Amino acid sequence: MSQAISLRNDITTQHFYLVRQEDFTLKKEDLQKLLNDMSLEEKIMQLVQLPGQAFEDDAAITGIADTEVSAKVKQLAGSTLGLHGADKIRKIQEEYVKNHPHHIPLLFMLDVIHGHDTVFPCPLGQGATFNPETSKKGAAIQAKEAAADGIHVTFSPMADLVRDARWGRVVESTGEDPYLNGEMTAAMVEGYQGDSIADHDHVAACVKHFAAYGGSEAGRDYNNVELSEYALKDQYLRAYKKTIDAGVKMAMTSFNTLNGIPSSGNKWLMRDVLRKEMGFDGILISDWGAIGEMVPWGLAADLKEAAHLAIEAGVDIDMCTESYGFNLATLIEEGKIKEKLVDEAVLRVLNLKNELGLFEDPYHGASAEKYEKITFSAESREVARAAVRESLVLLENKGNALPLNSKKIALIGPYVDEKNLQSSWAITCNADTNVTLRQAFTEAFEGTDTELRFANGCTLLDEDADLGFFHSHLDNFEADNEKLLAEALEAADFADTIIMCLGESAFQTGESTSKVQIKLPEIQLELFKKIKATGKKIITLIFNGRPLDLGNLPEESDALMICFRPGTEGGHGIADVLTGKFSPQGKLPMSFPYCVGQEPLYYNSFNTGRPKPTDRYSAFTTRYLDCPNEARYPFGYGLTYSDFEISEVALDKAEMKKAEGISSASATPSLYAGGDKIVATATVTNKGNAEATQTVQLYIRDLVGSRVRPIKELKGFKKVTLAPGESAEVSFEITEDMLAFFTLNNVFETETGKFKVFMGFDSATENAAEFELK
Ligand code: BGC
Repeated sequence: MSQAISLRNDITTQHFYLVRQEDFTLKKEDLQKLLNDMSLEEKIMQLVQLPGQAFEDDAAITGIADTEVSAKVKQLAGSTLGLHGADKIRKIQEEYVKNHPHHIPLLFMLDVIHGHDTVFPCPLGQGATFNPETSKKGAAIQAKEAAADGIHVTFSPMADLVRDARWGRVVESTGEDPYLNGEMTAAMVEGYQGDSIADHDHVAACVKHFAAYGGSEAGRDYNNVELSEYALKDQYLRAYKKTIDAGVKMAMTSFNTLNGIPSSGNKWLMRDVLRKEMGFDGILISDWGAIGEMVPWGLAADLKEAAHLAIEAGVDIDMCTESYGFNLATLIEEGKIKEKLVDEAVLRVLNLKNELGLFEDPYHGASAEKYEKITFSAESREVARAAVRESLVLLENKGNALPLNSKKIALIGPYVDEKNLQSSWAITCNADTNVTLRQAFTEAFEGTDTELRFANGCTLLDEDADLGFFHSHLDNFEADNEKLLAEALEAADFADTIIMCLGESAFQTGESTSKVQIKLPEIQLELFKKIKATGKKIITLIFNGRPLDLGNLPEESDALMICFRPGTEGGHGIADVLTGKFSPQGKLPMSFPYCVGQEPLYYNSFNTGRPKPTDRYSAFTTRYLDCPNEARYPFGYGLTYSDFEISEVALDKAEMKKAEGISSASATPSLYAGGDKIVATATVTNKGNAEATQTVQLYIRDLVGSRVRPIKELKGFKKVTLAPGESAEVSFEITEDMLAFFTLNNVFETETGKFKVFMGFDSATENAAEFELK
């Protein structure tokens, strides 16, 4: 291809003056020419992101916005967030490009986290599917709907490792395991970005929040994080790395400090670790206001110092503060920073605009007509419905209480008619489009001889509930709870099976929703008690965005299922499983505790020098006096409608030959490609009476290391669908990269010695064989 890109001569009169064709070979030079032609002010403004309210009053607010910006700032700021709507965005873009001195298009960004219009299960629910392919499909649909609606970049996926159920943002993560998170978030990046972000059905993805936001002390949002470099690199950074390898175009800094330094001012973290070690070459954007937050943190005296620290650290875009806009030029004039730092950052912004094809079509194909046509398509809804089915985790099923086999069913509880089945991070979701349990069950049993009754039973929240930022979603406490209870008792009286529909509010999940009590609202527990007293069969459904202390619900329910925040097709997906059309297959992506005092709780912890006692009276071991150490339901746990058995693990050999001289500053499995392998195999048998899908999980333990290693680490998983009585062999290839960790040499490498290989249906499995790396 000859001139892949040609820069038109008269750059001031052309709207879109970079004409890009198929290949990108000249891109860098041409963008450099453009950069050279820009004034310092213009360049700096490319690094400024304005809240959407600066352009439109009804933009989605995700932070605290000061929208009083001058016309000049609006004309030059390089990006905005929170807006959507094809016609609206086209109008803003047209005006903007016309008035911009170099006609450089504006970037439109939005949090499309688990759905734009068609809403998929929340990321934690997606983690429970253990199916990256499902998330990839969902992300592709989200990208298509969002792109048609005017969006260029989504602030997703969140690859933060989460271990503390008190932190409300666990709903945005795929869970507590670095491997699972990496597989899921990399798949999301592939779905959002497709083969090329120039394609109008795709958007650029942004991995967040770099780094270790999930480690927030005491689960309190925006808090300090104290982590050793070992924990950081060996556990917390692995998933972000997989999204980088998947080609994610943008990364976002986190609000927390890491060992005393707020991320947006942490040069070591951003330049040495993120860029050099992990190979990230995209745009680094601050989180909302995070550069300015270095002032209240006490790292910077004022916004000028904050801007200085952030640009030195390599933060390219300042999301919604005045730090960069007001201070970078002065910092250059005063000789405190080199203009080169700004140039580098601007070039990255121009590069993304170019990769999105915005210089050719600044609207990236946004079209109200296309949007109308594709949004909520039957196919999208079917993908969402299948995702719900895969995400449901059955924790209890006594005497095969499920699937339903009764002719008189009552659905009772505040989730019967709850429309908000999304999390607080589906900000463009219209809750009225979500399918409720009442709607789905009515549909599912229409024309059958099964009779249904419905009753809300009580308000969703306790009267003294505090939803903070989301206070406008507080229940109407005028509601007559006595009347609601009477209706519920009447419905219970009629039924022989009762489905209790309970849960947290959508607005108790997400940002700034930390909690020290992780139980259901008291009023719902009271309702449960009263319904339980009827002595009927009880199936409990829980809608939640975090692991909960389930109290006595597991003991007192005949079946109990975790539904997370299932999104648009919630009701349908749940009815599909409860009626037995599909067997549940979800597995917990986070450990469920007995009580909140166990948090942070995660399966891949250390053994300690005084491991769990074998009898309760053995003295001076690591244990609580009043609670088990273990999870009530461990990571990876979840029942199906059948019973599965697994044989012992067979290894094809007992030794693996260590490759010579491999070490890396970052987790890069490909270094070991072509090395020795061991194959681990087990036979899985469906011993029950229903066809079902089981998720076989592979865990490895490094028995002795230069640093203490976790008692188990997930290294693979495979799904197997078997008819009753059927068996299948399931094998995993163990390669040397799976054994690499951040050793005492402060690099990723393997160490010789013995390893245990576990295969089972959850992280508590003890089904293991041993091999040696020599
Ligand atoms: C959140 C980010 C989000 C950003 C933009 C912040 O408050 O922490 O996750 O992407 O707002 O909405």
